[in-house]
Amino acid sequence: MKILIIGSGGREHAIAHKLSLSPRNPELYAAPGNAGIAEVATCVNIQVDDLEGLLDFAVKAKIELTIVGPELPLVMGVVDLFESHGLNIFGPKKAGALFEGSKDFTKAFLLRHGIPTAKYETHTKLDAAIAALKGFDYPVVIKADGLAAGKGVVIAENQRVAEQALIDMMTNRVFGDAGDCVVIEAFLKGVEASVLCFVDGKTILPLQPAQDYKKAFDGDEGLNTGGMGTYSPSMIIDEGLMSRIQHEILDPFITGIQQDGIPFKGILFVGLMIDGDDINVLEYNARLGDPETEVTLIRMENDLLEVVEATLEERLSEITLKWRPEHAVCVIMASGGYPEAYEKGFLIEGLPVFSLSEHDLGPFYYHCGTKRVLDGVATNGGRVLGVTALGEDLREARRRAYDAVKSVSFEKMMFRKDIGTLIQK
Ligand code: AMP
Ligand code: GLY
Repeated sequence: MKILIIGSGGREHAIAHKLSLSPRNPELYAAPGNAGIAEVATCVNIQVDDLEGLLDFAVKAKIELTIVGPELPLVMGVVDLFESHGLNIFGPKKAGALFEGSKDFTKAFLLRHGIPTAKYETHTKLDAAIAALKGFDYPVVIKADGLAAGKGVVIAENQRVAEQALIDMMTNRVFGDAGDCVVIEAFLKGVEASVLCFVDGKTILPLQPAQDYKKAFDGDEGLNTGGMGTYSPSMIIDEGLMSRIQHEILDPFITGIQQDGIPFKGILFVGLMIDGDDINVLEYNARLGDPETEVTLIRMENDLLEVVEATLEERLSEITLKWRPEHAVCVIMASGGYPEAYEKGFLIEGLPVFSLSEHDLGPFYYHCGTKRVLDGVATNGGRVLGVTALGEDLREARRRAYDAVKSVSFEKMMFRKDIGTLIQK
């Protein structure tokens, strides 16, 4: 079976790795892929937003299944386009991807269906948005409605910062169209956790939760990033909490999309804020998380291909996910300056060829932003590698992941040293 994976990050490398372990032995392609993905798949140089290019390739190469990694092509409608040409593709259509493409759409959905979330207002006019700040305490959260590459959220400590954020988004248009509409939201305290789920429109099947470390520096200091590391299973979400999440958050999602007639097949990523007994939804994404995927798929015993097919055929209710007992830790090695300006093109020293066995404990060097150059592999993004290892317990997984980090180096590399520990703030 010929499978195309759209994307070029650690998430897509982990998807490709997991698929390469399928007993059905699929023939893998990736667009555009990266130097690591190239070890398990044929990479074709088509960018993720070139929908016509992707379609053209899928038709000509007789691709039988396409799996979409990142949000951009989903929000642009790649699934609608492929399906209109009779192609099999995994991910929500444009109408379902709005859960990630519009914060206002998600907040209205949450409110309508009684799913707990922070109080909010949506505005399209600067004056009204500034006036609305009076109804909120500080800190207040200002969000650009549309996609902003993970940068469209400002937590404003006071009115001056909040007003500036509104001016930047709505008048200076620092996020382009994405900031023409803004959501002003009450600040929630607590611990964040992400629950990723397969959804076939009728059934929502959660994966074992992973914990992400979003801030750039140790101790959760610095700017928000795409994620600097993860571990799984979560220390935060135990079985009791998971069952509450299922009843109070996940089941109402299915009822809600059915009532509203919103099509959704693919992955729903639920970002939660947990504060004692209080659980609130912070956001929905319409795809797997990065680097959540790196620690999750490696622990899943099921054949990913079977689960993807069951989702597409609306048979998820027949699937039971099984998990390896080992814990997994992923440490992101990034290029200095990330998530702001950083340089690319540094040669990576000491990088081993990818290990393919499912049953060993790694380390697995998932490539997030790399490219092949004449004398080896070079950095090609802010996040460069997702170094992942398994261990009998979290401590052991952590030790093995950090040992693996030590054997690799590149100029200006940076990584957090506290992935897999509990951060008390
Ligand atoms: P989002 O893209 O909506 O998940 O926001 C990005 C990050 O901003 C989240 O991961 C949180 O760390 C933070 N955040 C978003 N909304 C809130 C909120 N209402 N209260 C506190 N923190 C928030
Ligand atoms: N790691 C967070 C995300 O993928 O959105």
